[in-house]
Amino acid sequence: MAALRPAFAAAGLELAEIDWRAPLEAFDGLALVLLGTAWDYQDHPKEFLARLEALQARGIAVCNPPEIVRWNADKGYLREMDEAGATTVPTAYFMDADASDVGAAMDMFDTPSVVVKRRIGAGGLGQYRFSADAMPDPDWRMGHRCMIQPFLSSVTEEGEYTFLFIDGAFSHGVLKRAAEGEYRIQSLYGGYETDYTPSAEDLATAQAVVEVLPFPAPLYCRIDMARLPSGELALMEAEMIEPYFYPEQGPGLGKQLASAVRKRLG
Ligand SMILES: Nc1ncnc2c1ncn2[C@@H]1O[C@H](COP(=O)(O)OP(=O)(O)O)[C@@H](O)[C@H]1O
Ligand SMILES: [Mg+2]
Repeated sequence: MAALRPAFAAAGLELAEIDWRAPLEAFDGLALVLLGTAWDYQDHPKEFLARLEALQARGIAVCNPPEIVRWNADKGYLREMDEAGATTVPTAYFMDADASDVGAAMDMFDTPSVVVKRRIGAGGLGQYRFSADAMPDPDWRMGHRCMIQPFLSSVTEEGEYTFLFIDGAFSHGVLKRAAEGEYRIQSLYGGYETDYTPSAEDLATAQAVVEVLPFPAPLYCRIDMARLPSGELALMEAEMIEPYFYPEQGPGLGKQLASAVRKRLG
């Protein structure tokens, strides 16, 4: 918010921070709600969506709108994106997963190491990594609708690539690295960011993801990608709900976002 505020002020826009659980009246008079770091929505998805719909019903533009949030909250969208032609991280889907599912996924992906994650999840929380020599206990259960992916060693070796798009136009890239001995790049686990200027090829791969979204490009989206053994970048996550924007790596972000918001306000 601090990074965005000067550019918004220059565009004649004022930013106020309001908790998403605040009484609806707290939002009265706002032209637009920009979803920020609502980093607990994954444990209250219905409540969160109901709140966004209530704001929209009060005539407030919600960015991104509840339809997109609903679509984006469940990582099952990866399958749809794959079918639409985007390169995605190979993924198998489960209503719940147990030790035998983990073994079966290793066989299916022909890999000794997998990641199990919630379909509705964020921040790497409640995520598991298993390997042939570190299998789940026989009585282990994920306890959530989930997905299993081959573990991509590029994430620890080179990092995870992030591309920020505002109204479909590229803003900036970030390379996110995991701490020594970790594979999750989130700062919670000691992850850190480095500047990254994508090659034309990598940028085109990310841009192609935005272009096959099943709706016009949203006000903002963050395309997170990891490199497959083939060398191609694959979609890990298309984040349109509560992304951290990495403003430190994108000095032009505030201006680009403010002008996109202005355009939406007409
Ligand atoms: N298939 C994978 N291979 C290697 N690392 C992974 C894989 N899936 C997730 N990770 C690591 O876990 C982190 C969190 O997973 P992600 O799918 O981005 O979910 P979320 O950020 O919504 O919790 C990623 O940023 C990455 O560091
Ligand atoms: Mg992520």
